[in-house]
This record gives sequence, structure tokens and C-alpha cells, in this order.
Amino acid sequence: MKTYLLVLGRHPELSRAELRGKVDEIFYDEEKNLLLAENLQFTNPRELPRGEEQLFIDQLGGTIRMAEVVGEYFDKTQLQQVIWKRIAAAEKFKCGFSVFGGGNKLLSDLIFSTKSHFDKIRVENYNQENLSSGQIFQRRILQKGHEFIIWKRGESYLLCETVANQNLRNYELRDRKKDFRDAKMGMLPPKLAQILLNLATQNGSEDLTIVDPFCGSGTVNIEAAIAGFKTLGSDLNERFVEKAGENFQQMAEKFRYENTAGQFRTINANRCLSDVEVSNPVIATEGWLGENFEARPDRETIHKNAGEVLDLWRGVLNHLAEHKVQTIAGCLPAWNRAGSKQTVSEKFLLHAQKLGYKPTLFANGKPTTYYEREDAFVAREVFVLKRIA
Ligand SMILES: C[S@@+](CC[C@H](N)C(=O)[O-])C[C@H]1O[C@@H](n2cnc3c(N)ncnc32)[C@H](O)[C@@H]1O
Repeated sequence: MKTYLLVLGRHPELSRAELRGKVDEIFYDEEKNLLLAENLQFTNPRELPRGEEQLFIDQLGGTIRMAEVVGEYFDKTQLQQVIWKRIAAAEKFKCGFSVFGGGNKLLSDLIFSTKSHFDKIRVENYNQENLSSGQIFQRRILQKGHEFIIWKRGESYLLCETVANQNLRNYELRDRKKDFRDAKMGMLPPKLAQILLNLATQNGSEDLTIVDPFCGSGTVNIEAAIAGFKTLGSDLNERFVEKAGENFQQMAEKFRYENTAGQFRTINANRCLSDVEVSNPVIATEGWLGENFEARPDRETIHKNAGEVLDLWRGVLNHLAEHKVQTIAGCLPAWNRAGSKQTVSEKFLLHAQKLGYKPTLFANGKPTTYYEREDAFVAREVFVLKRIA
């Protein structure tokens, strides 16, 4: 069985959580944000002509890069020999290194000795620094050569060769190149939409419908269709619903899913499943995050927004419980103020529990975790609820 090293993104709790059910985790290094895993569950829901490992990483929002473990060595010379043998065996001319735990000396030694050993190989580490996922993608290093990841732990060198990397062009297409975007509504990054989708569909049946009752421009619906699901998007704002449908069609052409996989309608989230036929609905949504502020809100404004968001979600949860929805993955707003976060999650979870929903805990043992950007007024507090009643 192959063992893989996964390089995780900036939100490790979420990255690890979305991997549940997709891999068996062997070891996670919190400091380096690296995860060793085996037994990867590859799926190809739309029969795409791609390698299994690329398909696997394309379905994840929180994993940046994936490398196959080649072997463990205790001697630097032996490590070098194995690397050189692999370079020599392929007629490719680029190579690069990323070293974790070995310090700059190990990286610069590898760069220097490889350059001296081969005449025709171009070592892509220009500044004696690890390669980034962006550099690997832009310079097509995996197509034209090799990237090796060396993880030094104590006396051991774990050698891995990168087999798949995030496709940044595809993310760009689904994000900045979407026909309709609205800065005031807030921009849900497609990677977070994928994470929510993966959290919502864990251990679910085959025939799920992904429902986003606050669909806005339709980011979650697009990710759902790309992953091979049927999807329903609804929103209170009629114009957004129309634009979500248009975005969905635009991406159907680019990512080759059926436009009929999605349906969109204008309705309050607290009635999102009324008068509509959907099989096995599960919720994946960014939710409503309250007003969109141009300046940091004061305490009263936060208090008012928190009340409104809670009221809305209570109604939505009541409706979803009535429809016996099994899983709800979503975000709540958490306002950054005076060095701390003002949240609504405690009251929200209490209400959910009364209705028979239990939160799935993250690896930190908590029922929620944050997805945030530096200096943002509002963070997203992510939760997953499972119906136990
Ligand atoms: C943060 S935005 C979601 C953006 C979306 N994730 C996207 O990809 O564009 C929140 C959305 O909730 C909608 N909304 C607010 N209150 C609502 C309600 N009571 N019912 C349904 N939608 C609502 C807003 O119109 C807005 O589109």
C-alpha cells in the first residue's frame, strides 16, 4: 500500500477534518502542517481523464500538495543517491526540493550537489528556499521533472516525490473569472466551498443533493456539481439567484458538468426545502454573515447583527429538522473586536442540540473552528451538525 505525505493549507483543523473518510491518517505534525496518510479513497465521479492522485487533490480545498513516500534513509549520501537515480531514470530536465526539518544547510547541499552532478538538469530552487505550490504549478515542474520533499525527523530522512499539486488555474477560473461576483456580498473562496462540501458529504449515501439555502453567486453549487453531485441553491435576493444560475452554466461549460445538475430559486432560507423535490438533502453553506461592514463595527452593531443571525438560523434549523436533514455544514460570523471574537456559536449549538443535532468535533476537540483572513472584521466559524434523533 502506498503512503503519502500531504502538505496542508493555512487552516489545518479544516484541512484535516475534510480528509476524514478519504484517507487513514498515520501521523500529523502540527508545527510543519504535514500529514502522513495511507489508504486514499480515489473517486472519479465524472470519468475525467486525470491521474488518481491529481483527481484526489482536485477534490480537496485544504491540501496543497501530495507526495508519495519513496523511503526512509539514515544517511545523507544514500538519500542523495536515491534522488539522483530517480532523476537519471526519467528523461526530464527540471527538478526541485522542499526540505522540512533539515534546515537551510540540507536544502542548499541538495541543490548544490545536484547541480554539480548533472549537466542538463535545471534545479528550480532559485533563492535557496523551498518551492511553493504556486511555483511548482507555474513552472510545470511535475510535468517537466521532479519535486522531492525531504522530511528530516531526528536522524531519519523521509524522502517523498510530489505526485500532485493544486491546480491554481482552475481555482482562478472558479473565483476571479466567474462572470458574476459581488464584493459587498463577500467572496466565498472555492476552496472553503469544497471543504464545506466534503464535510457535508462524509459518510453520506451516494445519492445526495447538496443544498445551499444562502447560495449568493452559487459558489457551493458549482463545487458540488464539479464533484459530481446534484445541487439546489436558494437565496432571498432574486438577482443573486438569477446570477448564480448564470455562473453555474458558465462553469458547466468550463468544467464539463451537466447544467441540469443544479436548480436555483428565490426563497427565504427558513423555507428552502418547501415545495421542492430533492433526494437526500444535505446542507453545505457559507450562511448569512450579517451586515457587510466597511469599518470595524462597534459593540451595539455587533450585538444587533448577532441577534439577527441567530434568529434567522433558529428558523432555518427548525425547518431542516422538520425535513429530517441528516448533515449541516456551515459558517457563522465571529466578529473580531478588542482582541477577541464575539461569536454566536454557543447559542446556535444549544438550539441545534434541542432539535436532535450533534456537532462533529474537530481535531482540536472543539465543535467549531475558524476560517479567517488577517485583519478581516468578521471571521467564519465553521461547524458540522449530524442528526442523531
Ligand atoms: C455571505 S453571502 C453568501 C455568498 C455565497 N456563499 C456565494 O458564494 O456567493 C450570504 C447570502 O445570504 C443571503 N440571505 C440573507 N438572508 C437570507 C434569508 N433570510 N434567506 C435566504 N438568503 C438570505 C444574502 O442574499 C446573501 O446572498
